[in-house]
Amino acid sequence: MPDSSIAPISQSVPEPSRRFCVAPMMDWTTPHFRYLARLLSRRTLLYTEMVTTGALIHGDTERFLRHDPLEYPLALQLGGSDAGELAHCARLAQQYGFDEVNLNVGCPSDRVQNNMIGACLMGHPAKVAEGVSAMIEATELPVTVKHRIGINGRESWDELCEFVETVAAAGCKTFIVHARIAILEGLSPKENRDIPPLKYDWVYRLKQQYPKLEIIINGGIKTFDECHDHLAHTDGVMLGREAYHNPWMLAGVDPAFFGEAAPVASRQEALRAMFPFIQQELDRGVYLTHITRHIMGLFLGMPGGRQFRRHLSENANKPGSGLEVIEQALAKIRQPAPDTAPA
Ligand SMILES: Cc1cc2nc3c(=O)[nH]c(=O)nc-3n(C[C@H](O)[C@H](O)[C@H](O)COP(=O)(O)O)c2cc1C
Repeated sequence: MPDSSIAPISQSVPEPSRRFCVAPMMDWTTPHFRYLARLLSRRTLLYTEMVTTGALIHGDTERFLRHDPLEYPLALQLGGSDAGELAHCARLAQQYGFDEVNLNVGCPSDRVQNNMIGACLMGHPAKVAEGVSAMIEATELPVTVKHRIGINGRESWDELCEFVETVAAAGCKTFIVHARIAILEGLSPKENRDIPPLKYDWVYRLKQQYPKLEIIINGGIKTFDECHDHLAHTDGVMLGREAYHNPWMLAGVDPAFFGEAAPVASRQEALRAMFPFIQQELDRGVYLTHITRHIMGLFLGMPGGRQFRRHLSENANKPGSGLEVIEQALAKIRQPAPDTAPA
């Protein structure tokens, strides 16, 4: 319930850049993955997994909001539609130090639809506007919305514009648009990320029609070349699955999109830099396997990468496993032969 006694404790900080973002992904963009992602790129804006307002208010708030300060800039994604609850949770986001609070209007799961959470809210623009307005009132953080280009039965251009205009009128300035509709009956969430066709041109058109709004494009983006193409038409790109399965790509983000040096020189360096955090998590009773599942992609395509993954899969789940298991896995990576010095 709204609790006005919660005083904001975070400093007013400049709004983070959304030029390159990693998407919110349930069970994937956990604190462990985000820590690795941050070691690879200082500038990428990271999003948490979605947490529902109900879970935050009635559940273990501390557990849902736990993150390491190293993860900043970091956005909290909320699922919900009750304005009072959203306001309360937006205040919590600020209190816990997040840089942005984002509302999920894209998730097609049945479980959330029953509670008026996610993509079904695209059919209720006024409800979303009410929630957004309450969140803006409650916090100094930027309030953003992640949505689809439509839902089945409500998939016209005019309906998309009505949604964006209604929510923008409530004060939302940033829209992260997954460039496909969601089909609310008959497709699983996974199918809803692949089957409805991508319509990037609709997202470009939104930016043309509403040039003052910040429009971030999402869905099916894999390469930096694609990102640069999208950036010619939009303000930012958000990558989900590709960034998770191939996290090393993130090491190229700061040079490619921000003109800054990469924070690490090698995958090994990044992983070793994560050791103190992993040890701290192990000391807290976290199982190694819960951490290593999020680093599986780091050596994708490298000689020995498969053996690295196999070693972790077979050993990280054994009782008492610690950093030595990661060291053993690292030893499976074969370095390319060093260049011979010219004679
Ligand atoms: C495992 C998984 C979990 C996801 N969970 C969320 C979520 O919690 N909130 C959300 O807005 N989108 C969620 N998504 C959707 C992604 O944020 C993104 O919109 C979608 O995957 C399309 O982008 P991509 O093609 O770059 O992966 C999830 C996607 C995946 C693969």
